[in-house]
Amino acid sequence: MPRGAVPLWRQLHVRVALIVVAGLVLLSAALLLIARHYSALSSLEATQRMNLGIARYIVDHQDGTLIDAQGNADRARMKALALHVMMINPSVEVYLLDREGRVLAHALEGLQGPDPVGSTVDLAPAQALLNTPVDVLRFPVLGDDPRRAGARNIISAAPIAAADAPPGVLPGAMSGYLYVVLNGQALQGVTASLANSDAQREMLIGLLLATGVAAVLLVLVLRKLTRPLRELTLQVQAFRPDAQRGSGPATGDEIEQLARATQAMRERIDEDFARLDEANRLRRELVSNISHDLRSPLASIQGYVETVLLRGNQLDEATRDQHLRTALRHINQLDRRVADLFELSKLDAGRVEPQCEVFCMAELLQDVVQSYQLAAQQCGVKLALAAGSHAQAKVRADIALIERVLQNLIDNALRHTPQDGDVTVALDAAASQIQVSVTDSGSGIAREHLPHIFERYWQASDETGTHPGASAGLGLAIVKRILDLHGSVVRVRSELARGTRIEFGLPQAG
Ligand SMILES: Nc1ncnc2c1ncn2[C@@H]1O[C@H](COP(=O)(O)OP(=O)(O)OP(=O)(O)O)[C@@H](O)[C@H]1O
Ligand SMILES: [Mg+2]
Repeated sequence: MPRGAVPLWRQLHVRVALIVVAGLVLLSAALLLIARHYSALSSLEATQRMNLGIARYIVDHQDGTLIDAQGNADRARMKALALHVMMINPSVEVYLLDREGRVLAHALEGLQGPDPVGSTVDLAPAQALLNTPVDVLRFPVLGDDPRRAGARNIISAAPIAAADAPPGVLPGAMSGYLYVVLNGQALQGVTASLANSDAQREMLIGLLLATGVAAVLLVLVLRKLTRPLRELTLQVQAFRPDAQRGSGPATGDEIEQLARATQAMRERIDEDFARLDEANRLRRELVSNISHDLRSPLASIQGYVETVLLRGNQLDEATRDQHLRTALRHINQLDRRVADLFELSKLDAGRVEPQCEVFCMAELLQDVVQSYQLAAQQCGVKLALAAGSHAQAKVRADIALIERVLQNLIDNALRHTPQDGDVTVALDAAASQIQVSVTDSGSGIAREHLPHIFERYWQASDETGTHPGASAGLGLAIVKRILDLHGSVVRVRSELARGTRIEFGLPQAG
């Protein structure tokens, strides 16, 4: 998977499509269940409506009564009836009930299971059937099934006249009911048969197909709809490519990605503003510092040159020489200051790209120490390369910038070390790092000053007094920025009146 690509199942359109399809499947299942329920009900209703008169028909076609004057069932008749019914409609079960609904007899051929005779049937549904006009009845009317305790089924019922009653004077003179369970063996089968019905199978297949087609259409439509979102995310991500870098495959759907990209963009904008503010502040500070710093050397140059020009013929040659030399020294300081400022502003603006190459650190140290010997002698300080600093360790760094670091450190050390003091440059090659240190036996730096010495323009308060115009507090700021560029950390150890050791490390090359 390409970096930054979202796995298919996490993409927004696929997720939404999956949710909608799951909803559709649930809806289809609910529809199927409802359809099954109502088709079972309507099938029962149709059967009941069709066979509503069956009980009355059976009673009317008996040439005698089924219950005698003592309330006993005529079992012979019932048996004959059973055969009849069996032949005409085997799914129908005929029972003879007394007035309270107790089963007196049945017309079930080859009965299996418990004998229903003696059990009681709730008469309310039967009476509802008998006493309510058909157009008002709510079908299907379900009554107790005497053979199956607790089960209910569609029924037909008719009253049976008492043996001695004159014909036609029902219901007062009745001896019981003929109670017909219309759907006897078939009831449990109704739902089962409906489940297997072709119509339902076709409906199921239709629903599945429709759901499938809907899912595909949804994915396509949603994909099209969410494309602008993905494009927007890409555009926002492009704002901060570094935030995406190294993050491996993207996580979250498009909206989560967009949220992250927007957050990264906001951070980037905040950083840019902070950088701009800082750059502005530095620029303002720089301008005021430069004008302040350059004024005093310029003033003294101006003073000496004017003196030579105006009073040249009154001065002896040695004094004139001396004045011009002093002016030249100030010009050199000025030159150095401007160069430092220029270098620091380039470093601050990130315009310095280190030109790294592999070189032998010991050789560089030797060269720099050599070039400072004269200055050291003038200060009366012993400047030396520590014994054992001749290892052939190689580093990969910008040689000119590292040379600048060493110059600034040695320059500071010489300036802060009294006569007869020592300044030692040392190289320590460990396994993967080489450590370079400049140690002096000079004045040291007060503990509370240590956190500030790398700030630009920072100098200990006594500094400007002792060497007016000689230094500007830029040297260590330049050191810090150059070492930052090399990913190196600079460490300082110092003790007042004992000396200072400034050290940095660089990775060994090869
Ligand atoms: N070896 C040292 N011993 C004592 N103090 C030091 C030493 N190195 C630096 N400092 C202190 O840190 C301050 C900052 O040093 P930094 O090199 O930045 O400026 P500077 O030497 O004063 O001026 P510049 O380097 O621009 O000529 C110095 O002014 C000094 O107070
Ligand atoms: Mg310095």
